[in-house]
Amino acid sequence: MSDFILAPSILSADFARLGEEVENVIAAGADWVHFDVMDNHYVPNLTIGPLVCAALRPRTNAPIDAHLMVEPVDRLIPEFARAGANLITFHPEASRHVDRSLSLIRDQGCQAGLAFNPATPLACMDHVMDRLDLVLLMSVNPGFGGQAFIPATLEKLQATRLKLDAYAQKSGRRIRLEVDGGVKPENITPIARAGADAFVVGSGVFGAGRENDPHRYDSIIAELRGKLA
Ligand code: DX5
Ligand code: ZN
Repeated sequence: MSDFILAPSILSADFARLGEEVENVIAAGADWVHFDVMDNHYVPNLTIGPLVCAALRPRTNAPIDAHLMVEPVDRLIPEFARAGANLITFHPEASRHVDRSLSLIRDQGCQAGLAFNPATPLACMDHVMDRLDLVLLMSVNPGFGGQAFIPATLEKLQATRLKLDAYAQKSGRRIRLEVDGGVKPENITPIARAGADAFVVGSGVFGAGRENDPHRYDSIIAELRGKLA
């Protein structure tokens, strides 16, 4: 498949020069901007919200992939849509009414995603497939960048791929399968083989600027693409 999506997570970017970081990483060939939202409640960390999303919006035409690690989620969905997010993903544990939250995302004109923690069963998607544009499998526990990829995710990816392919057969509609956490050039090939078609890479990209130019990402993006070729 030629349409793999690379989605650098700006969680590991230089927050003091975020606009420039986004411009540079997209200029280097990345596809989406992965935007990690943490609330110090659903996860034990605090990051960025709709104001920062709105500030970044004019800096790029690339889709903004908002990953909401917040509880509750519904109030923030319209705010992120207004702030220019294109895809909005949340965790089923953080919404009282998953079907309603998914519908709300589409009502705002965005694509809807559901995120699965390492221990969250895939059955959570069974009755809402028609409402999904994206399934995000966490390959670390959410909350921090720079953690190690959990190997059991490979099997879970394979199982998800089977479900999504069966659904595509019957509906004619393709749902993306994104993986998030600990993805690096060293492991992205087996992760793609297991079925992922969108890859969040945080520390793997933003920790890999060139020595003489720490904010240039051409070589790391090219390396990741090469591993997917
Ligand atoms: C973790 C976030 C991830 C993370 C990815 O809660 O959702 O997007 O920042 O960063 P790396 O690639 O460093 O694991
Ligand atoms: Zn994320």
